[in-house]
Amino acid sequence: MNRVALAFSGGLDTTVCVSLLKEKYGYDEVIGITVNVGQPKSEFEQAKETAEELSLDLIILDARFDFANLCLDAVRANATYQGYPLGTALARPIIANAILEEAKKSKCKALAHGCTGKGNDQLRFEAVWRGSGLEIAAPIRDLALTRSWEIQYAKENNLPIKSGNDGIWSIDTNLWSRSIEGGELEDPSTIPPGSIYEWTKPPSSESKLVTIEFAEGYPVAVDGTNHSPMELIEHLNILCGNFGVGRTDVMEDRILGLKVRENYEHPAATALLNAHSALEDLVLTKEERKFKTSIDDAWAEQAYLGLIYSPFVEALNSFISSTQKRVTGSVTLDLQGGHARAVSRESPYAVHSASAASFNTSDVIDDITQADAIGVAKYHGLQERMSSAIFEAKQHTDKNDK
Ligand code: ARG
Repeated sequence: MNRVALAFSGGLDTTVCVSLLKEKYGYDEVIGITVNVGQPKSEFEQAKETAEELSLDLIILDARFDFANLCLDAVRANATYQGYPLGTALARPIIANAILEEAKKSKCKALAHGCTGKGNDQLRFEAVWRGSGLEIAAPIRDLALTRSWEIQYAKENNLPIKSGNDGIWSIDTNLWSRSIEGGELEDPSTIPPGSIYEWTKPPSSESKLVTIEFAEGYPVAVDGTNHSPMELIEHLNILCGNFGVGRTDVMEDRILGLKVRENYEHPAATALLNAHSALEDLVLTKEERKFKTSIDDAWAEQAYLGLIYSPFVEALNSFISSTQKRVTGSVTLDLQGGHARAVSRESPYAVHSASAASFNTSDVIDDITQADAIGVAKYHGLQERMSSAIFEAKQHTDKNDK
């Protein structure tokens, strides 16, 4: 059997792929696989209905557990790429892995996706798939298809096109973020209409405090109630979305170099990232904080590339884990005007002594007194003073010599 496993959403691209895989690639059986990473229910209904109309065998796999855990690893790495918390980027390797495993079980000869040749997702899927030895087919990219060609082809071949298949925006939703692109939004000068947002209300002057507890860098509870990773993210998406938290509008440099305008919604991600970094500010030493920003940047870059399962990321994770041993405590955020601002932090590991830093007490740590700063103050800036003085003196003699 010449069988191919297709990453299937029921959208126009993957619908067209089902028949192209048979017609142009010669596969005689296509299996559709939809992986649940927290998309809205309606997307599964669309996938099921479309599959039925195409007489396509559809397998739905649930990867929400692994995905939620990966999102919380991203929190420990304070991960954002150009302001975007990486929802789509983090989900792709999880989806690609789930499909690969299922394809092997179903004795497929090949793997297929409906990505175009301009985006990031083709690269993220194939980075996971290429080592498997299975064939890879990407009809939309390989055959250089356009959206209007696909619509025409679907009509001619009586393929089902649902209203959701061909909306104004191209939307990708999962537990961590909602991304909205395409249409008039492609023009960076277009102000996004309010209708693109589904998770966030327009920011208002109303406010609310929310307290997030962390254990070793992982968020574990909200306002005193423990939650599993998935529940915690879902809960914060609703809670913080009501206060307009987590909208970004970015000019994104894609992997292939194209600059694209992207809009995102990610209330839970924004709240968790802000709270987590506020807690790190309290417990990490100055050098740890400074060095970790470069580790975090590298983590986010690899996540954007879809290379989260690389040995490099494993090594970055070792550094991150070692720092997170002390990132335990709680942070209170003030949700207001679309922001989630840290207003209070507490930790048993705080590298902080209120009395030592205060102007009002003569308390000392480590036997250090104010007078000990006198010698330090004398040395401080010595090279700078010397350099200026030497420069001025040389200029002066040079002028007199002329
Ligand atoms: N540009 C983002 C990324 O590559 C998100 C793309 C989401 N796709 C969409 N159709 N809205 O990670």
